[in-house]
Amino acid sequence: MARRRMVYEGKAKILYEGPEPGTLIQYFKDDATAFNAQKHDVIDGKGVLNNRISEHIMTALTSIGVPNHFIRRINMREQLIRACEIIPLEVVVRNVAAGSLSKRLGIEEGTPLPRPIIEFYYKDDALGDPMVTEEHIVAFNWASQQDIDDIISLALRVNDFLSGLFTGVGIRLVDFKIECGRIWDGDYQRIIVADEISPDSCRLWDIKTGQKLDKDVFRRDLGSLADAYTEVARRLGILPEG
Ligand code: C5P
Repeated sequence: MARRRMVYEGKAKILYEGPEPGTLIQYFKDDATAFNAQKHDVIDGKGVLNNRISEHIMTALTSIGVPNHFIRRINMREQLIRACEIIPLEVVVRNVAAGSLSKRLGIEEGTPLPRPIIEFYYKDDALGDPMVTEEHIVAFNWASQQDIDDIISLALRVNDFLSGLFTGVGIRLVDFKIECGRIWDGDYQRIIVADEISPDSCRLWDIKTGQKLDKDVFRRDLGSLADAYTEVARRLGILPEG
């Protein structure tokens, strides 16, 4: 096969030039990293699982009218996506206290939050993705106030939909992270959901037992990450090929 031009390599994914202008190929690696890549391992099959799970979620989001970059899955590790200009923010939505929120504010993990809480982090590995406010985002021109309003509305729609989807298969959506991008239809700019939505970027707890089915299994050495992600895929009704 002809060598494709690599556009970007991240910790868990690679982007290649796509077959048509305005498209990219997103390749899912088996690499798992945590704590800004201080912890690293290769988990056999993780990329295959995340490719399928993210496909499933993005396709479902498309069906309810939440715009996102997914076009179609190409093979076990690759999907065709729309190219967009990534907004340099990680948008976290939380339903239940956990992780950095629990640590920062001293709220016990597992405490339900009175309402979904949205946080923004500036995507910068060298700075360790610091938390920022809307003031910073507008002042430093990472996004306009209108963009922020659009991002919040997208994030809440994703949260409502995903909470229901996971509840239906006995999983509690504790929190998750999305990234957003801009696309243009002529002069008209739209914000879409980009990157991936998978157990790498969500906290997913079994509703009955509280068992963790997400990347915390790796971050906290709680057992087999591949088994946890396979369980999420099984409950969603999608199992990896081969
Ligand atoms: O670590 P923290 O509690 O802030 O993470 C909140 C949510 O965002 C978790 O679901 C985590 O997996 C996700 N996240 C992510 N990528 C990051 C930071 C957090 O997917 N760089």
